[in-house]
Amino acid sequence: MSDETRKPTTNDAGIPVSSDEHSLTIGPDGPIVLHDHYLIEQMAQFNRERIPERQPHAKGGGAFGHFEVTHDVSAFTKAAVFQPGTKTDVLMRFSTVAGERGSPDTWRDPRGFSVKFYTSQGNYDMVGNNTPVFFVRDPLKFQHFIRSQKRRADTNLRDHDMQWDFWSLSPESAHQVTWLMGDRGIPKTWRHMNGYSSHTYMWVNAQGEKFWVKYHFKTDQGIECLTQEEADKLAGEDADYHTRDLYEALKRGEHPSWTLHMQIMPFADADQYRFNPFDLTKVWPHGDYPLIPVGKLTLDRNPTDYHTEIEQAAFEPSNLVPGIGLSPDKMLLGRVFAYADAHRARLGVNYKQIPVNRPQSPVHSYSKDGAMRMDNVTDPVYAPNSKGGPAADPTLNPPVDVWSASGNMVRQAYTLHPGDDDFGQAGTMVREVFDDAARDRLVSNVVGHLMDGVEEPVLSRAIDYWRKIDQNVGDRIAMGVRAG
Ligand code: NDP
Ligand code: HEM
Repeated sequence: MSDETRKPTTNDAGIPVSSDEHSLTIGPDGPIVLHDHYLIEQMAQFNRERIPERQPHAKGGGAFGHFEVTHDVSAFTKAAVFQPGTKTDVLMRFSTVAGERGSPDTWRDPRGFSVKFYTSQGNYDMVGNNTPVFFVRDPLKFQHFIRSQKRRADTNLRDHDMQWDFWSLSPESAHQVTWLMGDRGIPKTWRHMNGYSSHTYMWVNAQGEKFWVKYHFKTDQGIECLTQEEADKLAGEDADYHTRDLYEALKRGEHPSWTLHMQIMPFADADQYRFNPFDLTKVWPHGDYPLIPVGKLTLDRNPTDYHTEIEQAAFEPSNLVPGIGLSPDKMLLGRVFAYADAHRARLGVNYKQIPVNRPQSPVHSYSKDGAMRMDNVTDPVYAPNSKGGPAADPTLNPPVDVWSASGNMVRQAYTLHPGDDDFGQAGTMVREVFDDAARDRLVSNVVGHLMDGVEEPVLSRAIDYWRKIDQNVGDRIAMGVRAG
């Protein structure tokens, strides 16, 4: 760039600065003066560049794109984003769960799969993972689970003994742990993995009919995974392997896409279904509720500033639009509180005014003031009012995305459905979905993991846990550990 076309450096107030390289000193060799406010601005800004990382899911990357509806699902939802032919801008972020912002992309871990749809009815966020199930089914256990995967208090190290202690005392984790220790526990890239809502949500159509639904975003690139050895090597050679892959694919003009399919259960089926359809540790077998295609999600634009567009992005399961509601899944109900709270703590109370979090539809809210508010508030500042302020839409009340509940207040597990247990679906995956080679890799991954720091009594409990998933696989793991 020629000197004539370069823009002059200014400070943050837009005032031209006289040097990019030299502080203000008493003579060339003398001390720096305190009134060099440009030097001080540079140092002070630098000291404040980092914001708290996300508690879980700290390491991640993302991109922009769009979602286009290709099939008519208006019989199941009135949500504008899912009406035939609708095209909606999206932001996506992929992540690992347990590591910190600089941790290797290729650690064995579930991957986050977050989508923000900038719909005509406000932002809709689908904050899922690359697995259809999760480790626990009550939000009270989530914090403990995450701590068991992160670092010990004394050594500040991650610790397999701590991980298996929690898992083997939490048998509901068996399905997700089997998934994690299998091939899909380390995707080759973010482009080569599926995304799932995991939770059951509600869809409501224009007639007010309700359905229970699960989202499956299937990769159009095909599923590809890394072996433990490949992942370990990459963790040393290129900790940002997945971040780089996505960025470079988009830069090359390769636009990854996912086809959204839904499983849809009539509202009335839930009570009688053989599994509790709201238990996050279970899938709905495809044979019971087949996948129905909806549309295609495509990524086509890299961020230009990772901090403002990805680090400051705030995805939250409470961002729901008319036609999409919650379900009685206790984990989902807990998440509805947790994310907005995390965003207020991590980004500040006015985080929804950060450009990447702003809806593309108009906002007429009564929220007011607070740190870093960008938009002017106009009177009236209260409701109800007779001064022309916004008024809630009476057609949305009573709410339709509801279900009924009754009983005393208790601290108790879900009522069991006939097919519910902690190990059945994990066993089905090991026996009926994995082939011999995949089972061999599962056994080898688990043996390697257990031999890396797991001690008695946790070790025996972990082997017992695998025997409950599948006797044969459990016996092979026991043999492998003994031989090791
Ligand atoms: P299906 O045979 O219809 O589905 C099995 C599914 O397993 C596949 O469609 C695929 O899901 C997924 N899968 C394939 N290979 C692997 C792997 N190596 N690791 C993890 N998942 C894999 O059977 P069901 O629907 O009756 O389910 C049987 C078992 O499959 C379940 O107990 C569950 O463990 C697992 N599963 C079921 C899913 C569901 O939503 N029903 C989803 C994923 C796994 P996909 O098409 O999503 O890639
Ligand atoms: C991130 C809490 C379960 C997927 C987070 C964050 C919190 C949190 C506090 C950080 C948010 C931020 O700072 O921006 C919880 C709680 C859970 C739970 C309390 C259970 C009660 C789940 C489940 C899934 C999931 C079941 C997937 C189905 C994610 C993803 C992110 C995330 C993808 C990263 C979002 C992003 O890309 O910014 N979670 N979580 N979480 N969580 Fe959860």
